[in-house]
Amino acid sequence: MPVSPNEFRSALSRFASGITVVTTKDNLGKFYGITVSAFCSVSLEPPLVLICIEKLTGSHSALLESSRFTVNILAAGDEGLSEHFASILDEKFEGVSYEVDDHGIPFLPSSMARLECSIFRTLDGGDHSVFLGLVEDVSVRDAETDPLLYFQGAYREIAK
Ligand SMILES: Cc1cc2nc3c(=O)[nH]c(=O)nc-3n(C[C@H](O)[C@H](O)[C@H](O)COP(=O)(O)O)c2cc1C
Repeated sequence: MPVSPNEFRSALSRFASGITVVTTKDNLGKFYGITVSAFCSVSLEPPLVLICIEKLTGSHSALLESSRFTVNILAAGDEGLSEHFASILDEKFEGVSYEVDDHGIPFLPSSMARLECSIFRTLDGGDHSVFLGLVEDVSVRDAETDPLLYFQGAYREIAK
């Protein structure tokens, strides 16, 4: 019997993750940002990560046009940023504190770590696409910063 969407979601909600905002720009130079939990490390040599992006999102078409994206890993307390970039808004960067890197890609300076990637490969993944990113630069905040976590449909923080 095939797995139902509810069974699938229920099992996957038991996998705790961090939260990222993936930022990019389309070929007209418009900025995009999307909240993404489907992010993971793939390879050390070469340094590769992957993100899974739903095909119906605005960011998906921007990523198909773009040659780069940045993964901004959110810190504890950044639920508001996560919800903002998970919303349907025409101008995602209005009212958000951001900077632009040397490649013209926006990033969130408040994030606890940042990985600047060129798109290495794009793979079909059902209703999502898998974008493999070659990590070309990283920036990290001090080790004391706690991450924003997501588990069973809710934001969490590391218990001390
Ligand atoms: C906690 C959380 C995690 C999410 N993870 C993903 C993800 O991994 N991939 C994805 O395509 N959408 C994910 N989403 C949904 C997108 O953020 C949402 O569809 C967003 O509105 C897309 O924006 P856009 O159309 O401007 O690109 C997530 C949303 C939330 C709240």
